[in-house]
Order: sequence, then C-alpha cells, then structure tokens
Amino acid sequence: MIKKGIILAGGTGSRMSPITKAVNKQLLPIYDKPLIFYPLSVLMLAGIRDILIIVNKGQLNQFKKILPNGNNLGIKISYAEQKTPRGLPDAFLVGKKFIGKENVALILGDNFFYGQSLTKRLQQCVKLKTGASVFLHPVKNPSLYGIASINKKNKIIKIIEKPKKHFSNLAVTGLYFFDNKVISYSENLKPSKRKEIEIVDLLNKYKNKNKLSANFISRGGAWLDTGSIEDFYNTSSFVSALENRQGLKISCLEEIALNNKWIGKKNIVNAIKFYGKCNYSQYLSTLLKI
Ligand code: DAU
Repeated sequence: MIKKGIILAGGTGSRMSPITKAVNKQLLPIYDKPLIFYPLSVLMLAGIRDILIIVNKGQLNQFKKILPNGNNLGIKISYAEQKTPRGLPDAFLVGKKFIGKENVALILGDNFFYGQSLTKRLQQCVKLKTGASVFLHPVKNPSLYGIASINKKNKIIKIIEKPKKHFSNLAVTGLYFFDNKVISYSENLKPSKRKEIEIVDLLNKYKNKNKLSANFISRGGAWLDTGSIEDFYNTSSFVSALENRQGLKISCLEEIALNNKWIGKKNIVNAIKFYGKCNYSQYLSTLLKI
C-alpha cells in the first residue's frame, strides 16, 4: 500500500510571468481556491495521508500560511525546498529521506484531475507493490506533453517527452506511482539537452524492465494541466461551471477529510474560523448540517 505522496510545487512559472514573479504558481486561484488544493485532494482521495510538498527556495512561508501542517485535515504535511528546478525526478532526491524504504506517489502541483470513478482507480493504484504506474489521457496537442503509445493489451510500448513527430495522442499525466527503486533510478539519471533530469527517462527504466503499467482516466473524466495563462482560465471556467451547476465543490479538502473520517465536525468549525467569512466557509457550514 502506498502511504506517502509528494506534490512537486516548485518550478519557475516562467510561462506565467509576471503573475508568478512574486507568488508561486500553485498558490494562484483556480476559480475559488488555490491551485495546490486540487493535486492535494487527489492524494487524499487515494487515501494518502503523509504528504511532502516540494517548493522553491524562499517560498516555504507562503505555503505554510494556507497549508500549515495538515492537522486540521487529519493528514501530515511536511515541506522541502528544491534549490533549482532541475527536473521532475529531482522530487525523489529532494524527498529521499521522506520516502525512506517505502513506495511513493508523485503528483505535479499544476495538474487537475476530475471524473467519475477516479477515486476507485486511485485506490487501485495505491496497491502497487513493485514497478511503476501512470495515468494516460488523450490530448489534442501531443507535442506539449510526455506521450505514450500502447499495444492492444494496453501495455506501454513507447514514451517520448514532447515529441516533434506525432505517434500517439495519449499524454502521460502528472500523476505517478513508484516502488522504492525510484530513488536509485533517479540518482542515476543524466540531464537531458535542456539540462533537466527527465520523468520519461525514469519511466523508460521501468518500461525496459517490463515494470510499467498504464491506467486510464475514463473518457468522461477530465485531466487539465495549468501550464499557461490560457489553461489557468479554462480550468477555472470548468470548476466554476460544475460547482455553480451542482452546488458541490471540487477539491474541498475538509469535505474529503470528513468523508474519509480523518476529521470530525469540530475541525470543520475550526476551518470556518480559519478561512473567515467567505464562500468557501459558507460551503463548509453546509457540511455541519449533514
Ligand atoms: O502535466 C503533465 C506533463 O508534465 C507530462 O506530460 C510531461 O511528461 C512532464 O515532463 C511535465 O511536463 P511540463 O512541461 O508540464 O513540466 P513543467 O516543467 O511545466 O513542470 C510541471 C510542474 O512541476 C510545475 O508545476 C512546476 C513543477 N516543477 C517542475 C520542475 C521541472 C518543479 O517543482 N520542479 C522542477 O524541477
């Protein structure tokens, strides 16, 4: 069972400058809450309660203001700083001590997942004992993502980062499950031409040993990444449309914790005090009546 999860929430955010000059991208709003709430909710839905958030040097205090230590969510949140954004697998080097001898999940701080039966699929993924597992989802513009092709048995046969030539429309999303070998594999990765250690090189190590499996978010599900301003607004509109139609919030952390029985109603009362008079608190107060 995977009990530990890492959220990689550093990066330069250069594609969103000047907005990201003073504030980390993951703290900017997706509709009515900070972006970081969405990947955190995915780990919580997977049942993961021990979480390391990796942030840029100097940005720790910004994060601690909104997500201090996880107590009020019945989880444990710890932090580590990444010196420079030297690639996604650096998460396993920065997080080496946190991971210890266990298996681990990684989610990128700017990834958004939504969909029916997502929780069920996540709960399957955390059962991973050996190897690695990724989620694939079709995209219209494959040259922007890590892309995988699969055979008839849904086995991954090829993965390339941001391919120039089209060979598949299946993107490797920013949610990964790894066994403990991920640390030693990451330690042995060599930087690519863009001077980063690459997640696809890490995944290829598993694939070459026949240890990489694929999961799919169903066609009705959504995976959005919030890499650019345009993506940010589109994702916000998506959340706004659904929340206003249904009256239910996407990625309300306290609601997930309450449903998981990790916290009680007293914590919800505390959360309302913490957030103050706002729409989010109003929603929390409806949870007290259930
Ligand atoms: O979103 C899924 C895609 O994410 C995958 O399909 C690609 O295979 C994967 O390489 C990645 O591509 P991006 O170009 O979107 O990665 P980006 O450099 O934008 O980083 C994604 C997030 O991780 C972002 O929130 C910043 C953070 N990050 C990134 C790097 C390289 C860090 O915190 N530290 C880093 O060193």
